[in-house]
Amino acid sequence: MSRPRVLLVGAHGHGRGHLQRLRRLADAGRLELGGVCDTAPPDEELTALSGTAPWTDDLDEALRRVRPDVAVVVTPIPTHAPIALAALEAGADLLLEKPPTATWAEFEQLQRAAAAAGRHVQVGFQSLGSSALPAVAADVAAGRLGTLRGIGATGTWQRADSYWSRARWAGRRTLEGRPVVDGALTNPFAHAVATALRLDGSEDAASLASVELELHRANPIEADDTSCLRLRTARGTTIVVAVTLCAATAREPAVTLRGSRGSATLRYTRDEVTWSTPEGTVVEQHTRRDLLEDLLEHRGDPAGALLVPLERTAAFTAVLEAVRTAPDPRPVPPELVQVLQEGDDRRCVVRGVDELVAAAAGRLATFSELDPRWAPGAAQPAGVPAVQPAPPSA
Ligand SMILES: NC(=O)c1ccc[n+]([C@@H]2O[C@H](COP(=O)([O-])OP(=O)(O)OC[C@H]3O[C@@H](n4cnc5c(N)ncnc54)[C@H](O)[C@@H]3O)[C@@H](O)[C@H]2O)c1
Repeated sequence: MSRPRVLLVGAHGHGRGHLQRLRRLADAGRLELGGVCDTAPPDEELTALSGTAPWTDDLDEALRRVRPDVAVVVTPIPTHAPIALAALEAGADLLLEKPPTATWAEFEQLQRAAAAAGRHVQVGFQSLGSSALPAVAADVAAGRLGTLRGIGATGTWQRADSYWSRARWAGRRTLEGRPVVDGALTNPFAHAVATALRLDGSEDAASLASVELELHRANPIEADDTSCLRLRTARGTTIVVAVTLCAATAREPAVTLRGSRGSATLRYTRDEVTWSTPEGTVVEQHTRRDLLEDLLEHRGDPAGALLVPLERTAAFTAVLEAVRTAPDPRPVPPELVQVLQEGDDRRCVVRGVDELVAAAAGRLATFSELDPRWAPGAAQPAGVPAVQPAPPSA
């Protein structure tokens, strides 16, 4: 079989890692790097990684010249839908970075286009390529934790001013009238939301019974940097995802399933699961399957399922739609915000937020239920967006 021709769209930022992997796979004879498209010119490293593959700033020209079998899309969120639609029309399968689209309407449009074109769309939630997920889900279904009481996810990272100023779309809810939705829940901790939904088996459009949101920001940005999401899924599970980019201490994000017999904590960036049950505490190390390699194999033999097909990101996209249409994030009370100077950079730390995040996930509570300073009022009732299941992609 001939080697699939791959076009990378978006090569600076996170795309650099994609280009390094494409170079490795090309050198190993697994694919042909057909071209790179980016609106900014390449630097020295990107030029070397591109090799003889043409670099262009024009997507139409790239699609015409390369005629890609696969397009890897690693561009700003508001550009995902138009670039993905153009690549599908040109006959390419897609590895599309997360979040797949900036709105529910674009998500449906993309699903319809993929189905009509008979193309595959894999979404770049790399945590969903971990062998930990099916293993935990199977053990929980077999009763290892007893009756499941809920899922709590925590994320405590630190992001400085340079993170928010690296690109025009960073930290925006909209840019030039287009939705962006670059908040903590929908971008940096999108994996926490998607991983919790997969562990619950709640990924399609009808999976969410209710969505509550508390969106806050300590940084001078539009989007949320400190947030709490509580979902009730159609199968009856309560899921809380509590996150901040203004932590005192940076820790690996964790998704914890709690049951009547104990708990299982997945640190998804490490593919590591810690079980605490009456039998004792056990740490299991899992491995991860690469999403591009999975897509390439699936193209050769579509009998099996893709790891992260577009349709399995429907519930995640419904959460994103709830965030997009929610009232603007509330400023964190100024008395809780400390600004730290770190060299030339500056970052906000919210006092007590590490503990608040842990308590919210542990007790399946919202920030305002735990601490009245995080009111006014109760959780912003986001409602469940009126989303309809759309046909699956090929
Ligand atoms: N899966 C992950 O863990 C992960 C991690 C980081 C980022 N991401 C995702 O990757 C995407 C890019 O994020 P980033 O932080 O690298 O953004 P970025 O703004 O730093 O980089 C985006 C790149 O796309 C290029 N670009 C912009 N518009 C373009 C267009 N119309 N055509 C071609 N190229 C264009 C820019 O020049 C830049 O090189 C986002 O969707 C983000 O959510 C995923």
